[in-house]
Amino acid sequence: MKLLVTAGPTREAIDPVRYISNRSSGKMGYAVAAAAVARGHAVRLISGPVSLGPPEGAHAVQVITAAEMLRAVEENLSWCDVLVMCAAVADWRPVRPQPEKIKKNSRSLAIEFEPTRDILGAVASRKGPRLFVGFAAETSALVEHAAVKLAAKNLDYIVANDVSRSDAGFEVDANAAWVLGSDGSRTEWPLMTKQAMAGKIMDLVEKAAYG
Ligand code: CTP
Repeated sequence: MKLLVTAGPTREAIDPVRYISNRSSGKMGYAVAAAAVARGHAVRLISGPVSLGPPEGAHAVQVITAAEMLRAVEENLSWCDVLVMCAAVADWRPVRPQPEKIKKNSRSLAIEFEPTRDILGAVASRKGPRLFVGFAAETSALVEHAAVKLAAKNLDYIVANDVSRSDAGFEVDANAAWVLGSDGSRTEWPLMTKQAMAGKIMDLVEKAAYG
């Protein structure tokens, strides 16, 4: 199989020295890419800025912004059989990134943001027979919010994390999730390492592809 995996956060510039981003470490996406390589699949990993080295055997594409990640996904979509969107794409970017460093001489700073494009939404019409797996980062009503995203983003599976937990999700090495399928399935995955969860995601992907 050919897997396109996205990982990490994106960064949206405020000025030449500052940006808005999120707490994604990229560990989950890199673990999925590594698990897929270990099972003999071809992997292209599109990654935002993280402090991890790309898994050996994966073709890595580095991006910074949500717009760059969208372009990289669009360019590689026709190559893949499976898209796994682990990336925590920034939902907002400054409308007017400043060309010069903003000086601290005012008492407050208002930054106007505009929404970035939803990558899964942008490629949904090109899905065809491909398998799409998304993630959901939630702080409440995990299953309910994930169910809405599963349908809205035309996904086969969504892996929903409670990112308000300190023992799972963002930054740490472990994760716990509810996995919802477009077939109506709902499964709880208990706390486990991100490597173990990547293996379970690959089990799902291989089962969906090979039966
Ligand atoms: N995603 C995407 N493009 C974006 C934002 C998110 O493709 N601009 C993808 C993520 O990679 C993930 C899924 O959509 O697979 C859900 O992301 P999440 O951040 O949980 O939800 P959002 O769609 O951003 O919605 P909200 O922030 O309102 O929860």
